[in-house]
Amino acid sequence: MSGEAERKIRVMIVDDIPETREQIKKLLMFEPDFEVIGTAGTGREGLDMARETQPNIILMDINMPDMDGIQATEQIATAVPMAAVVMMSVQSEADYLRRAMLAGASDFLTKPVSGDDLYNTLRKVYERKQAMISTMPVAPQPGAAGPRPSGATGMLRTAEKRLGQILVIYSPKGGAGCTTIATNLASGLMRDGTRVLLVDADVQFGDVGVFLNLKAPTTLADLCESVDDLDMELVENVLVTHGSGLRVLLSPEPEPGNLTNPLPGEAVTRVIAKIASAYDFVIVDTGPQIDALNAGLFDIAHKIMVVANPTLSSVRNVRALLRLLDESEYPADKTMLVLNRVMDDKGRGGRVTIATELIEKNLKLKVVSEIPSEDRVVLHAVNRGVPVIAISKDRNRPPIKELLDLAELVRRKLGGQEEPVQEEEKEQKTGGLSWLRRP
Ligand SMILES: Nc1ncnc2c1ncn2[C@@H]1O[C@H](COP(=O)(O)OP(=O)(O)OP(=O)(O)O)[C@@H](O)[C@H]1O
Ligand SMILES: [Mg+2]
Repeated sequence: MSGEAERKIRVMIVDDIPETREQIKKLLMFEPDFEVIGTAGTGREGLDMARETQPNIILMDINMPDMDGIQATEQIATAVPMAAVVMMSVQSEADYLRRAMLAGASDFLTKPVSGDDLYNTLRKVYERKQAMISTMPVAPQPGAAGPRPSGATGMLRTAEKRLGQILVIYSPKGGAGCTTIATNLASGLMRDGTRVLLVDADVQFGDVGVFLNLKAPTTLADLCESVDDLDMELVENVLVTHGSGLRVLLSPEPEPGNLTNPLPGEAVTRVIAKIASAYDFVIVDTGPQIDALNAGLFDIAHKIMVVANPTLSSVRNVRALLRLLDESEYPADKTMLVLNRVMDDKGRGGRVTIATELIEKNLKLKVVSEIPSEDRVVLHAVNRGVPVIAISKDRNRPPIKELLDLAELVRRKLGGQEEPVQEEEKEQKTGGLSWLRRP
C-alpha cells in the first residue's frame, strides 16, 4: 500500500554521543512503524535539521555543546510546532528535565533507554500530538505560538504590537466551568499564527496547571514581584508551554502561605495589562470571588465572559453579578453570557434544569453559547491533561463542537474590529468597578 511509508513515525535523534545515537537508531530499526530521518550532535544542528526535515518526534539529549537540549526544545516549539520533543536524560538530571518540560517537551525517557520504553513512549507521544494537530481548526504555523528565539527580548518595549484583546472568564459560583472554557478557548484560538496567552488568575485555587498537566516553579507571583520592571526575558522565563504550543502563565500552587497571603489584585491586573500587547488574545481564568483582583480584571477586560449553569442558584448569582456590572460604566456589549453544562433533559420525568429561553428572559441577556454537559469527555480530557477539543478527531462531537464554535465567536467579536486599548490607558482607567479596589 502506498500509505505504508506515510504512516511511519518520523524520528530525529539529537545527542552528542555518537554511540547513543547509533544505539537508539538500531532499536528503532527493529520496529516497522518508525523511521529515523536524521541524527544530530548538538542542539543547534538538531534545530536546523528539524526545520528542514519536519520530523514527527525529536529525541533530545539535555547536555550538549553549542546549544543544549532545553534551549533547542524552546526554539523548536516555535520553529517546528508540528514536532513533539521527547527528552532523554539520566536520573540525576531531574531538575533539567523539569525545565525541559516547561520549555515544551512532551515526555521524557531515562537513559539508558530500553526498547519497550522507547517504543511505547514514542507511539503515545505521536498519537497525542497527531490528535492535537488534527483537532486544531488549522494546523499550527511555524512561529504561531511558543517562545521566540532568545534575543528577541523587546516584547514589552518594541515588539510588534498584537491585538492585545483581554477576555476574562468569570462565574460568581465556583465549579460552573470557567477553567474548562478558558483552557479550550485558548487552545481553539491558536491558529493562523494567532498568539494566545492563557493566564490563571484564580490566584488561590487555580486549576489551569491541573487541567493542562503543567507544573512550574515560576508563576504569576514572579511577574507580580517585578511588575514595575517587566521585560520580555523575564516574562518568557516565567511562562510555560503546553504540548500544543499554547503559552500559559500559571498561578501559584495552593499552599497555606499562598492562601493566607494571595497575590495583590492590583499587581496581577497590571501584569496582565502590560503583557497583553504581545499577544492577540489573552484568556484569563478567574476564581468566583468578587474582590479587588476580579474587579480590576473586569476593568481591563475587553470582554467579560460570564459562565452560568442552568440551575436556580447559578442563575440567581449571575443575576446579582449582572446587576453589579450594570452599575459600572462598561458598554452594554462588554458582557457575554455562556451557559455551561446544559442537559438534554426533556425526556421521561420532565426537565430538571432551567430552559435557556427562561434564563435569557430572567437575566435579560442573550446566551451566546450553550455548552452541553458531557461528563465522560470532559473528565477524560482533564485526566489526560489536554484540552477537551483535542480529545477526539470528531469535531462535531459535543461539547467539542460548541467549544470550537465559541472560540470562533470570540475571534470574530474580539478579533480586529476594535482598536486595541493601550496599556497606559488601561492602567489609568478609573471607572467600572474600581471602587472595589478601595480598602
Ligand atoms: N460541559 C461540561 N460537561 C461536563 N463536565 C463539565 C463541563 N464543564 C465543566 N465540567 C466539569 O465540572 C467541574 C468544574 O469545572 P471547572 O473546573 O471548569 O469549573 P470552574 O468554574 O473553573 O471551577 P472552580 O470554581 O473550581 O475554579 C470539572 O470537574 C469539570 O470537569
Ligand atoms: Mg477554575
